[in-house]
Amino acid sequence: MNRLIVYVMKALTWIQKQLGLSSYNPQRPLIHFAPGLNWINDPNGCVYFDGSYHLNFQYHPHGIQWGPMHWGHAVSRDLLSWEEKGIALYPDKETGMAFSGSAVIDSDNTSGFHPDGPGLLAFYTGHIRGKAWGKALQQQCLAHSPDGGLTWKPYAGNPVVPNPGIPDFRDPKVFRHAPSGAWVMVVVAGREVLFYRSRNLVDWEAAGRFGDGYGLPEGIWECPDLFALPDPRNPARQVWVLTVSILGRTKPEFSPVQYFLGDFDGHQFLCDHPASDIRLLDYGHDFYATQSWFGLEDQDRTVWIAWANHWAYANDIPATDWRGVMSLPRELSLGVRDDRLHIKQVPVRELDDRLIAAPLPDRATSDGVHDIRLRVPCTDEGFAAVRFRFGSGDLQVRWDATDRRLTIDRSEVSRLGYHPEFHKRPSVHLVCQTGEMIDIRIILDRSIVEVFTLDGLVTMTSQIFPGTPVEEISIESSPEVEIRNAEHRVIDLVRKQ
Ligand code: FRU
Repeated sequence: MNRLIVYVMKALTWIQKQLGLSSYNPQRPLIHFAPGLNWINDPNGCVYFDGSYHLNFQYHPHGIQWGPMHWGHAVSRDLLSWEEKGIALYPDKETGMAFSGSAVIDSDNTSGFHPDGPGLLAFYTGHIRGKAWGKALQQQCLAHSPDGGLTWKPYAGNPVVPNPGIPDFRDPKVFRHAPSGAWVMVVVAGREVLFYRSRNLVDWEAAGRFGDGYGLPEGIWECPDLFALPDPRNPARQVWVLTVSILGRTKPEFSPVQYFLGDFDGHQFLCDHPASDIRLLDYGHDFYATQSWFGLEDQDRTVWIAWANHWAYANDIPATDWRGVMSLPRELSLGVRDDRLHIKQVPVRELDDRLIAAPLPDRATSDGVHDIRLRVPCTDEGFAAVRFRFGSGDLQVRWDATDRRLTIDRSEVSRLGYHPEFHKRPSVHLVCQTGEMIDIRIILDRSIVEVFTLDGLVTMTSQIFPGTPVEEISIESSPEVEIRNAEHRVIDLVRKQ
């Protein structure tokens, strides 16, 4: 019966599209990527090529639950409006499903696949099912694109990195490590990452490994990334940032993505901080499988994106014909707080050009994207809260000065019952000095809310399922917490790039 409903919904969506009609869907975000139909998870193959940002993603084209993995594909010129291009990579008889991976530009044709000029290569995990999940075979595969990223052709000699006897061995992220003159592949292997090196992108040799004893004690690692950012205390120094997502945290009291800061010489990663110093990337419910773009024109810019979901309930969230959404692409840098270096994430600057001022409080607000910015004092007691009123209840972002915690509360706004953990209220402790002003920025795009505070040193990302557009936005606070500079902006939907 469920299957029948899905097919009917798909047929209706298809007819609507053909007729150029679009109906209001309170869930479909306006500036966050979501698929037209069916299931998505991790961002894959993020590469900037020939004037377009390419976003591939884990895609099940025949249903709204996880299933045989393909790579779907979308492109954008501004990182905010995306055009879907169809399936780019299919499961393969020899190597199985196309699990997560990355893409690079082979500018000098070191691989031999692109004699006519720069071309794209993808690295992904071929996943051959076993009788049980732990018996599957995962190995790293290569594909080249003959048409600038529209389709990927698997290499006949796959796998390029065979499985060394590890059940969970996946999600290759490849980048150029100029100082050591080699391409580097980072792959997760259980609760570690392994590094491989190559001169020609086809033949790979094992190098170092990292992870033993580091990070949260549970789960296995997935979707690694590794890149360098300048040290704000000494911009001549590059700090290497290694990130991994953790599968197996069933309780979504925060998003299980963690990072390590240190040094990377092309072979080994040396962590700068003690193993007990656990760094998380986002404190909301839904932020996973981050991937940075390869090949940005501005080489000083690092931008990444995440799947805004949590495996604990990803297959059960309300959906009819599509399921899954990406975060906003975020610009990355490092900042100092508490005498320690931390990752900073802010929405890409392309968003600023699209925003226009709007009233606040807004008692008759309209559907769309809302960007609220305010400054609250770090006091010893009191609270401030931004409240988004929906037909189904309120979404609240709340600053509790007494215990210095910022919380997302989606327990009222979303329909009940799809997962026991869904209504937990994640909160994060902000270290601040009494009297200091704290910046809070909240971006709401129908079914996803992203919060940025302390200049992006702390972020919180959560999905919501309101069923109606937001009807009112208000700010309240106790007398001890005097709010400053509250601003409201909305997205200019007419001015698409
Ligand atoms: C992460 C992940 C990856 C894997 C993919 C399968 O969300 O589990 O490790 O490659 O999803 O869809």
